[in-house]
Amino acid sequence: MAKLHLITYGCQMNEYDSERVAGLLGRERYELTDREDEADLILINTCAIREKAEEKVFSRLGQLKGLKQKNPGLIIGVMGCMAQLQQRDILKRAPVVDLVFGSPAMSRVGELVERVKRERRPVLETGEHPLTKITSTLSRPDRLKAFVTVMEGCDKYCTFCVVPYTRGRERSHAPESILEEIRGLAQQGYREVTLLGQNVNAYGKDLTPAADLAALIESVNQIEGIERIRFTTSNPVNLTRRLMRALRDVPKACEYLHLPLQSGSDRVLARMNRGYTRARYLELIQELQETVPGIALSTDLIVGFPGETEADFEATVEMVEGVGYDSLFAFRYSRRPRTPAAEFPDQVPEADKARRLTRLLEVANAIQARKNAALEGREMEVLVDGVSKKDPRELAGRTRCNRAVNFDGGGRQLYGELVPVRITQAMPHSLRGALA
Ligand code: SAH
Ligand code: F3S
Repeated sequence: MAKLHLITYGCQMNEYDSERVAGLLGRERYELTDREDEADLILINTCAIREKAEEKVFSRLGQLKGLKQKNPGLIIGVMGCMAQLQQRDILKRAPVVDLVFGSPAMSRVGELVERVKRERRPVLETGEHPLTKITSTLSRPDRLKAFVTVMEGCDKYCTFCVVPYTRGRERSHAPESILEEIRGLAQQGYREVTLLGQNVNAYGKDLTPAADLAALIESVNQIEGIERIRFTTSNPVNLTRRLMRALRDVPKACEYLHLPLQSGSDRVLARMNRGYTRARYLELIQELQETVPGIALSTDLIVGFPGETEADFEATVEMVEGVGYDSLFAFRYSRRPRTPAAEFPDQVPEADKARRLTRLLEVANAIQARKNAALEGREMEVLVDGVSKKDPRELAGRTRCNRAVNFDGGGRQLYGELVPVRITQAMPHSLRGALA
């Protein structure tokens, strides 16, 4: 049997896609290997969200050059977002590459690899293609938590973001195909699903009859065996009262929402084309907190967007403190090809970006520590997913609000179980507890 080595960069959707590709190639008699030196086919699933992500891929491709000299039959492919964004430029900059294809062509991976073998020249496939649900996948050893893509693409065109160019327009999968996939996961023993979309709360708008994420979550709730439902990433513009109520009323929906803010300055938000103001965002947060008391919130932020002044940045800091996020992801602005903001004249120096990032992360850490400390003494539901990294005698798991908890399980085998844990100690990035 031929051997496939898969390298995945980027987001959860890429992890999901890589598993599908491995599944499809499995049908073409490729088996996975974790050793690149024994592979007949190496595929790199790429991310293009920031420049650093792309640099990693090129340096990885540089490392693979030697393998190709030893094994001229080796096929090297680049797939995913960077493939879609850079297209032929990848072949120019990295002649070691035999195949470049974007996510629309993923379902035809077997055919594309055959074409490379037949034609003995590089193949480029980055055209648009209708959305297909790929059902074949890998069987993984850890069957507990799964990602399920429910929609692709994004129509929002934030001025900093490549996703509309790399993943195309918003297209939703039919509810029935999603539910069938999740029923299959439940049968294999999975307990938690995370519904994925770049703009997941716009789910279903493009379907006939139209569907929505709240209804989808209600249907997933009916599936026996699944105990927890999460979804990501939501856009403030599409956050409906119906979805907030689903978070409150659907028992398996976790009381947690990732709601990217990006900036706390109205001027920057407008230049980002985010479609909301600081006041509107705060209104949504207030409504969320009233509807779902105790809801955990996380966010994404960008520092050093073109034209961001110290005052704009301070507005972001102030907002982060005001909302009191349970966790956050902050990034330095990165200029991306094809995006409008890359051409804005008032780019911020890297040194300012670095300083603002450090400051923001300090603020975020202090809030997180304070929020974690408030949980000491509380009893929380934990889905046990393994053992503690620091002490293998302890069990590890996640709360419904997605915090990591390490706890003394009294020597019991609890993998995959939902158990009550009393929190005894709050650490900066995790909690410690004991079985209640
Ligand atoms: N809706 C998407 C957001 C895409 S990217 C999702 O599914 O997560 C994730 C985060 O990367 C964004 O929220 C943003 O904070 C960050 N990001 C996107 N483009 C960026 C850029 N050009 N520079 C820095 N950070 C960026
Ligand atoms: Fe990107 Fe904005 Fe869509 S951040 S994924 S264009 S909502």
